[in-house]
Amino acid sequence: MAKEGEISNYFLQDVNKLRAETQKYISDGAMTSDYKDTKRSVKLLQGALATEIVCVLRYTMNSISVSGIASKSVAAEFVEHANDERDHLQRIAERINQLGGAPNFDPQGLASRSANEYGGHDLSLRKMVEQNLAAERIAIEHYCDLINYFRNRDPSTRAMLEEILADEEDHATDMLDLIGDNEARQAARK
Ligand SMILES: [Fe+2]
Ligand SMILES: [Fe+2]
Repeated sequence: MAKEGEISNYFLQDVNKLRAETQKYISDGAMTSDYKDTKRSVKLLQGALATEIVCVLRYTMNSISVSGIASKSVAAEFVEHANDERDHLQRIAERINQLGGAPNFDPQGLASRSANEYGGHDLSLRKMVEQNLAAERIAIEHYCDLINYFRNRDPSTRAMLEEILADEEDHATDMLDLIGDNEARQAARK
């Protein structure tokens, strides 16, 4: 688990690994059969599914641990994001199923399949929000890679991923707003 100051870098190492895998799949693409293409699509979506599961867990954990150190509106924001991430995981799992795969919900190995970390416990509100911002930015990069992969191969999956990407961009903006609000509150106290 990363120390507080290392959270962003830690996330980045994971995403770099996942992105490298995605890039490898993209560059392998031209020479494969339809069957192999579908298998690759399912494998890529399994990574997105794991990322969404971890996001649901992290936002849910944050919504509970934030009570007492912040206003109810911050907890409500985390709950709202957890619900959005749950919707994302549902859609991705259904798409994997439609492609003939079995969505992988196995807790074993979940962290290593995900682009994002579950994150630290007992963080300050500021660190909690920073952690989520880092996670959202990684999710955005990851979805951009996936959209690129699916662009000409599978328009339905691409359209779904583009909608999810728009939500992740909103989430990142929400986290930036929370950092701004927190700084304004602290400045007002001085
Ligand atoms: Fe998501
Ligand atoms: Fe998100």
